[in-house]
Formats: sequence, structure tokens, C-alpha cells
Amino acid sequence: MSDFLDESYNDSTEPHFREVLGSALGDPARRAVLRGGVGLTTLLGLGFEAELAIAANGTSGAQGTPPDRAASIPGLGFEAVEKGLADRVSLPPGYRYQILHATGDTLDAQVPAYGNQGLESDDWSRRIGDHHDGIELFFVDAQGKYSERDTGRALLCVNHESSADAHFLHPRGQSSNGAVGRKFTQFGDWDLGARPAEEVLKEIHLHGVSVVEVVRTGHTWRYRVDSPYNRRITPNTPMRVSAPAACLEGVRAHFSTRFDPSGARARGTLNNCGSGKTPWGTYLTCEENWAFYFHLPVGAAAGDNALSVSRKRYGVQETALAANAKSARGQGWHTVSSSDDRFARWNIAASGVDAASDFRQEPNTFGYIVEIDPCVPSSAPTKRTAMGRFAHEAAICAPAVAGAPLVFYMGCDSRNEYIYKFVSAAHWDPRDVGGGQAAGDRYLNEGSLYVARFDADGSGRWLELTIADPKIAANAKFKFNQQADVLVHTRLAADALGATPMDRPEWGAVNPKNGEIYFSLTNNNAANRSPDKVNAANPRAYADADGKKLAGNPNGHIIRFREDADRHSALGFRWDVFLFGAESDMGPANLSELTPKNDFSSPDGVWFSRATGICWIETDDNAMTDESNCMLLAAIPGRVGDGSKITVNNNMLVGGTPVNGQQETSVGATLGETRLRRFLVAPRGSEVTGLTESPDGRALFLNIQHPGEETPALGNADAFKLQSEWPGNEGYGPKGRPRSATIVITREDGGLIGL
Ligand code: FEO
Ligand code: CA
Ligand code: CA
Ligand code: CA
Repeated sequence: MSDFLDESYNDSTEPHFREVLGSALGDPARRAVLRGGVGLTTLLGLGFEAELAIAANGTSGAQGTPPDRAASIPGLGFEAVEKGLADRVSLPPGYRYQILHATGDTLDAQVPAYGNQGLESDDWSRRIGDHHDGIELFFVDAQGKYSERDTGRALLCVNHESSADAHFLHPRGQSSNGAVGRKFTQFGDWDLGARPAEEVLKEIHLHGVSVVEVVRTGHTWRYRVDSPYNRRITPNTPMRVSAPAACLEGVRAHFSTRFDPSGARARGTLNNCGSGKTPWGTYLTCEENWAFYFHLPVGAAAGDNALSVSRKRYGVQETALAANAKSARGQGWHTVSSSDDRFARWNIAASGVDAASDFRQEPNTFGYIVEIDPCVPSSAPTKRTAMGRFAHEAAICAPAVAGAPLVFYMGCDSRNEYIYKFVSAAHWDPRDVGGGQAAGDRYLNEGSLYVARFDADGSGRWLELTIADPKIAANAKFKFNQQADVLVHTRLAADALGATPMDRPEWGAVNPKNGEIYFSLTNNNAANRSPDKVNAANPRAYADADGKKLAGNPNGHIIRFREDADRHSALGFRWDVFLFGAESDMGPANLSELTPKNDFSSPDGVWFSRATGICWIETDDNAMTDESNCMLLAAIPGRVGDGSKITVNNNMLVGGTPVNGQQETSVGATLGETRLRRFLVAPRGSEVTGLTESPDGRALFLNIQHPGEETPALGNADAFKLQSEWPGNEGYGPKGRPRSATIVITREDGGLIGL
């Protein structure tokens, strides 16, 4: 979603580790060995390769990894798609797509078909939500139980991220105090007046997750309108709150509000961005930009100091404290009066006698990984607080190995935020496949939470977020009394350990061939990334002279790392930069030598096909959009250390003054057009996000989010100019207003996608 939601709230000074320059990045001898592919297992110990052998023998669990197929990927087998600004989905020759569902589609035979004029009067809790994002597929057997096998019948979970374009869902756009035709562009807008209940209910309920049953006939997929599995999970759905046993009481104290003073339950999930799938067959949805939905009225009491410090670090704005503030953030949801607290909860004023009598702690109840069992529609989702609280973007489980801990990689998507991992205390038992949330209780409550530090010598460390560390326990900026405080105020604990601030960590992915972990670092702006504010893992600061003329690291990069001894639970790793985004004609900043057939900007989703080994890269861009809409690319990666050590020459204007600098880093081998190619260009104003596949690699499920995002406020004018009219203009549903959608891509000859 739009960049303005990803501002920096990290004023930590420690982690810019420019001071550690100079040490050898990637020992050349080791690189030579890796390049030659010689003795890898010997070199790295009994690690991933051994684990692969175990997996190949069938003793691993649901996420078991196929044998190393590095040599067997034949190369990309499609014609690159040209950049473009057309309002359609463009694919290589020989490929086609269908739309599975789009915003507003009904999930219930009793709910009328979508009219696409903003006239729907229901509250959207029985329609497909908006802003399709993370996506996962769960096959079910004849009894409706989770199946690891492709049965041709599955439950499709899709995240619905944002209400930033909710103006399409009302007749004339969003309204406030009777004024219509507004476009939500700036948080705080809505605090000028009261908003209508019906609009607000739509906006609340378009968030969350949809679960729909999908079935395959031949190569065609469709969703079942009448399936008993169809479900919407919204910001109003009751949820369990889980935590490590020793922290449960402390975590519940942070969750205590008027909704449930005991803090045992929370209400709903919000701004669901990336996703994940557990080895036992449940869905993980990630709460990202939840911080911006809350409102603190001017002059209202904020609560205690710890709350204020934490809110500031998470971007929950207390503009009431500013002398000239006319409003705080929010979308005015709190202005609707009702006999219950569904709307009042968005007002976080400390108006009662204690936290249990108001909603001052409501923001504490968001920012988590939420586990959903799609196979049990009656089950309450669970907030997994052991995995920390931040702007969660995807939770990627490394291949599960029987008898070893499970490891989940997670990004925090805001400028200068961190990469985390969670290592379960319990060791994986494949008999837990199909175990639902009882299995989740086993693996996702007890474990260790780490944050990553990327060092200039090409190594990295996982720093454990534990109250036992004196840097946390005796932290001067924030008082941590117990481990529960670390889990709820995770960003502050990570600051204390000196984690590396990154260029907005988006999705992560694990390469099924060799266990290496990839993370998109989508971009950063001039204020946060200038030649004097770079580090080895975020080494670029430049001005793009073309197009949108943005500065900082406007095109982003993808970092990757390999855990020591190839064990995902290791405490150390080696890293390099897999790819730098760039326009092919931008000169020295095009460090990965991209060409017009594979140049891209602002990588967001990154996802590996287990069937083909292709690394799919999705973009959510605002830098190169003068010449192309967002896109999907296919890459065949090598491995960490297959490239070279480089010195990046940075220069840009800072406050009108030219600033130069150099930064050493390590970049992966140049892929060229044979190993990196553009596969899809999306409709105008959209981002490409969320990706999964059928296990045979012959159907790719992909989300197109917010086509037409740049459409001006709809207003009272009879004719307004829509930036996009997709997918109606390609024959899906009523023509006119654009809609987010899930599409399924197949090859006309039924072959493997991408090869
Ligand atoms: Fe929701 Fe980080 O994109
Ligand atoms: Ca250009
Ligand atoms: Ca994203
Ligand atoms: Ca993004």
C-alpha cells in the first residue's frame, strides 16, 4: 500500500554501523569453493544438505524440502513482457489468466451480486474484502480435513489490507460531516467531522481475511459461493490471545481494555499484509500498518508515559500533545455513535479510571501474527504474541525437518526497521500435520525471538530479544519489567540490541533448493538514506534524475542470507545483496546490470516456487511508474557469495548540498536476461502482491491490489476520471470502478509456469 504508511519511527542512533567498514566481505577462498560447488557439505557442516536428504527420504513434515535441484533448472522459458502503462494484465505469449474473485464478490448465496457503484448497503462481512494481499492455498480431502495432497479442492485465504481506496466503495467517495467526494490521502483528514455509520462499517469490514472454497475443473479454478467454509475474519472477529506460559499474565495485562478487562481475548485483525503457512496446515496473517487507525482527541489524556513512548515508536500518533494540532490520526471511525463499543474502541483516550475501563491499550492488541485454521470455520483466530509485535510483513516458515525446531522469518515494514526470526522450542513432529490451532499452541507459543544485525564483513548475528539481556533489562529509553514487555514493545527491545535498520523489510522467502533466506527491502527515502546514512546491507543512496525524481534508495534491493552450518536455528549467517532494483538507463546506481527486459523498482513480494525453484519478485512501486505499472518478474538465483565485493559510490543532494560517500558491500552474480525476466505487468495504479501455486507448478495464484489507486476523489461530478477500470474492462463483473482481485495464471498448453 501507499508509502505514506511506512514512515520511520526509529530514531535509534546505534545501528548505522558504518564504523565497521573494511573487513573482508565474503572470504574469497570460501567464495571460490562455493562457486565451484565443491565440498559444500564439508565446508558448512552437517546442515541443510543433510536435512534435504532427510526430507527426500520422506521423514520430514508438510514443508519438507525436495532434493537440491540447482543444476536441473533449465532456464526461463518465456518471452519477457515489455514495460507498459496499459490498463490490463500483460503476460508472455502462451499464457493466460482468469479472475478467481474480486473486491465485493459475494460469499453467500443470500447476498446479492456486486453492483460496483458503491450502493451496497450491507456491511461487507459476507463479501470479499478490499486490497487483496497475502495469499495461501489449503487443500482439503473428501471429509473437509486439511490435506498435504492436491485434491483439486482447496480453501483459499486472502488478506485484505487497507481502506485507503475505500472511496470506490461509497456512491461518491468517503464523506465526513456531510461533505462527500473525499479521497483518503492524509491521516487526520477525518477528524474534522463525524462519519456515517454505513460507510465506516464497510471500511472496517473490508479489512481482515477472506477464506473461500475453490475447486478445479480441468485447468480452470472457481470459487464456490455456497461453501460452508466461506468466511470473513474482520476487525470485529473475536480472537484468542496466546503467549509463552511464563508471559501469559503479563501479556494479558497489556491487552486489557473495556472489551475484555482480563485481556484473554482481543477483537479482530487489521491491515493484513503478508502471510505465511504453517507446516501443520494453518494460515498466518500479518498485521502491518495497524498503528494509523487510532485517534487521540486533542486535549485528551494519553495514559502513562510507557504507553506514550511505545506509541511514538510504533507510529500511533499523539498529535494531541502538539500545541498546534487540530486532530490526531484515524479515519474517523470513532465518531460513529452506537450502543456498543465497536466504534468507540478507535478512540484511545485514557478517559476511564484505568486501562480496563477504556481503550487506551487498544493499539497493544494489534501488530501480531494471527493464526487462522481455515478448515474449522467456527474456530477463533489466535494472536501469537510470542512472535513479537511490530509492523508484521509475512511469516515464512523454513522447511520443516522432523526432530528440529521450526523457524519463521518475519519483516517489520517501515523505514529503518528490522528483520526478525522466531525459533520454536518444540521440535517438529510430522504427526502434527492437520493438528489445527492445537498444533499452533505447541509450536508458536514457546520459543525464542531474534532480530538481525548485518555486519560489514558479510556476516550477521541473530540477537535474542530476552529480558535476560542487560541491554534490554537495564535499557535507558524504555523500562522493560518482564519478558511480556519485550513481546509487546518489540521494536524498542530490538533498538536496545543494536539491530540493523533496513530499507523497509517486506516479504521474506526461503529458497527450497538450498535453504537460503531472501528479503525484499522495498525502498527508502532521502531523509532516511543519504550518502552519510548508509550501511553495508543498505548501501545505496542516490538521486534518480528520471521520472519521479526520487532520492534515497527509491528502487530498493533484495538481500539474502545463509544460516551458519545451514541450520535455520543458527545464531549467525552470511549475507549478500541478491539484486538491486534500478531503471536500466540510470547509470552507476544500476548495480545488478538490469536491462529493459528485467529492470524493476521497489520489490515487495518475494516467493519461491517449490515446483520449479523460480524466485518470483513482485513490485509495489512509485518510482518507475512513469514508464511502467507494477510487475512480476521471475529469477533463477544462485547462492550467497556467488558474486563479488563492490564499492558503491553514492552522491545526492542533502538539503541542497551535494553529499558524496562510498560504501562497501557484496552483490550477487549478475543474472542477465537468461535468469531474470519480466513475466507480468499489472493494470494502472495497482501493486502486485501475494503469490502461491498449485503443487504441480501449473497454476500461479496472484493478487492485484488497488488498481486505480491514483484516481482523484470521486466527488459530486457526474463524470470522474478513473485511473483504472480493471477488471471490468477485461470482462469481469460490472464495468467501471476498479477492484482488487485474485487471478490464476496458467499456460495455454498446461505446462509449468515460467520454465
Ligand atoms: Fe503492506 Fe509492507 O506492504
Ligand atoms: Ca527511465
Ligand atoms: Ca507488502
Ligand atoms: Ca509495499
